[in-house]
Amino acid sequence: MDFDLTEEQQQIRELAREFAQKEIAPVAAEFDAKGEFPYETIKKMGELGLMGIEIPTEYGGAGLDTLCYVLALEEISKADASHGTIMSVNNSLFGYGIYKFGTPAQKQKYLEPVASGKKNGAYSLTEPQSGSDAGNMKTRAVPQGDAYVINGRKSWVTSGPVADFVLLFVTVNPELKHKGTSAFMIDTTQPGFARGKVEPKLGIRASATCELFFDNYRVPASERIGQDGDGFKIAMTILDAGRIGIAAQAVGIAQAAFEASVKYAQEREAFGSKIGEFQAIQWMLADMATRIEAARLLTYSAALKKTNGEKYSRDASMAKLYASEVATFAADCAIQIHGGMGYSKELPIERYYRDARITRIYEGTSEIQRTVIARETLKTFS
Ligand code: CAA
Repeated sequence: MDFDLTEEQQQIRELAREFAQKEIAPVAAEFDAKGEFPYETIKKMGELGLMGIEIPTEYGGAGLDTLCYVLALEEISKADASHGTIMSVNNSLFGYGIYKFGTPAQKQKYLEPVASGKKNGAYSLTEPQSGSDAGNMKTRAVPQGDAYVINGRKSWVTSGPVADFVLLFVTVNPELKHKGTSAFMIDTTQPGFARGKVEPKLGIRASATCELFFDNYRVPASERIGQDGDGFKIAMTILDAGRIGIAAQAVGIAQAAFEASVKYAQEREAFGSKIGEFQAIQWMLADMATRIEAARLLTYSAALKKTNGEKYSRDASMAKLYASEVATFAADCAIQIHGGMGYSKELPIERYYRDARITRIYEGTSEIQRTVIARETLKTFS
């Protein structure tokens, strides 16, 4: 693996780092406390090209590779994981999905507005009875002439409260299970679409999440993404890409927790010494540093495989599984090193701890990642 970053990769990392530290870090605590969507900074990120990093320039994106996406997302998430979540949905769950599976007309229509930050996208797979068991969906589309009529309820839709467009997965034939599923592009201004209340969450509180309701929502057949029956595979393929993004987000949170801990260990005194001179603190810092580096390498490796057109389901799941566990470990260590101050809302440490936790749940729990890794591994050696 060659991780000598190209000039382009260094530039996007620098751009994201500078924007994140200047514009996002100063407002992150306020938006977290209010649980408010950060429209202004998200719009600016779009203007900088951060909402469609891998989308080709002809569709309004930055036309860069997956490693560029990962480098930028880590920097944004280091300043604020909520911004990282919103960025990852627009880039991978929505943008990559439409780019990979949309028709040229669908790409023209939907990619530019989201990649440029003028509009927000969402991806809606989960339902109240089907989270990990994603194929067991009940929201149904019934063909009617040159359209489909959709009825049902979706849950835990990241960016649902602010989405202009939703990439929606439904069943068209429940008897066929996952082979009876389809994907559609939903315009949230159309009749028959409604949003539930914004979920009150433990972390990533500035990223808005809600239920979506479909009551005889009529969608033209031209808005179907892929063919009838392809929905589940489209959803899974997109999640493979999305999981690389969540791994990068987790590395960003872990890095923020680590850097704050190093600084505190060099300043805080106890028993007449800086606490960084005590072995108990040193070992925590050593474990954090080592695990973060390993998580970053797994994430870069998955990104490189995706860019090179290699199969990467297993790599994406390994990166997401490991990096999410490192993020929660690093945030926990950071609280321990900071003591009472780590538990206080005066510092961002407790936010890192709350934000890190979701990375082990969304876009597939750690248990689902282990399932994917095990299945892929068994296939390799069968
Ligand atoms: N890429 C392409 N195709 C895939 C695939 C992948 N990664 N994974 C599975 N498939 C295909 C299989 O090859 C199979 O195809 P055939 O029918 O041709 O054989 C088909 O899909 C069914 O596969 P499985 O039998 O493996 O399906 P399963 O029901 O056992 O489920 C699973 C597999 C890995 C558990 C899957 O259901 C899964 O990933 N679940 C977690 C879902 C998830 O991550 N949800 C989070 C949603 S998004 C979110 O968090 C909210 C948000 O807004 C961010």
